[in-house]
Amino acid sequence: MLAGCGSALGHDVITTKITWSREVSRIVYRHCASCHREGGTAFSLMKYDESRPWAKSIKEEVLERRMPPWNAVKGFGDFRDDKGLTGEDLEVISNWVEGGAPEGDPKLLPKAPANDGAGRAEPVTGDAIVVDGRLVLDREVTVEAIRAKSMLKGSTIQVIAQHPDGRIDPLLWIYNYQPKWDQEYVYRSPLRLPKGTILEASPAASGTVELISGAGSAAKGTAAR
Ligand code: HEC
Repeated sequence: MLAGCGSALGHDVITTKITWSREVSRIVYRHCASCHREGGTAFSLMKYDESRPWAKSIKEEVLERRMPPWNAVKGFGDFRDDKGLTGEDLEVISNWVEGGAPEGDPKLLPKAPANDGAGRAEPVTGDAIVVDGRLVLDREVTVEAIRAKSMLKGSTIQVIAQHPDGRIDPLLWIYNYQPKWDQEYVYRSPLRLPKGTILEASPAASGTVELISGAGSAAKGTAAR
């Protein structure tokens, strides 16, 4: 789509102190550059001249949480490499765009991230436990990661673990599932779920998810229904 292009911004008066060089580039390098770079999977946003024509579109995409694509709802489950933007990041981008998207002093630019795809997490290996609706664990497991197993495009699913003592862990909430953004969600620290924990993915009609329990977890075998 060319919606973001055009010269409308050319006439904007600068009304903000937030600049590309100092603040916005840091957010983009950190959260967008893995795809939006030369040779990446999407058009480059690495330079001011490349980002500026997209400014209005950038604001819209991040506020709607379509970018960076993550499928999961932020704050439901605590994941490593959570690419979601914080409220503060959203405010910085929003104010920058509203204030005329100025460049600022290029000397303040951070070092550009390496182009080598580093930082891409290795897939987690271990036993897979498929959750289709509700399931009671017949052994203790340590969950390292979770991912969609078979989900309908556009569907939403919420996965929780209810411990035998009643405590509830939010595991994952996928909203408006887009298969092209499919990914593995790795927990910041592995979750220990005792025997008897109830796993629930709802609504069940949305599909199934898969928990990956670490290779180091105690017993082998499959979980009981
Ligand atoms: C996982 C890769 C990935 C990441 C990370 C990512 N994007 Fe994108 N983005 C894409 C792809 C691919 C497209 C092309 C459109 C599509 O396929 O939906 C796109 C499209 C866009 C568009 C154009 C939307 C339109 O009008 O069509 C904007 C603006 C955008 N991204 C901004 C961002 C910003 C800002 C970030 C970081 C905060 C970001 N993206 C992070 C992959 C990514």
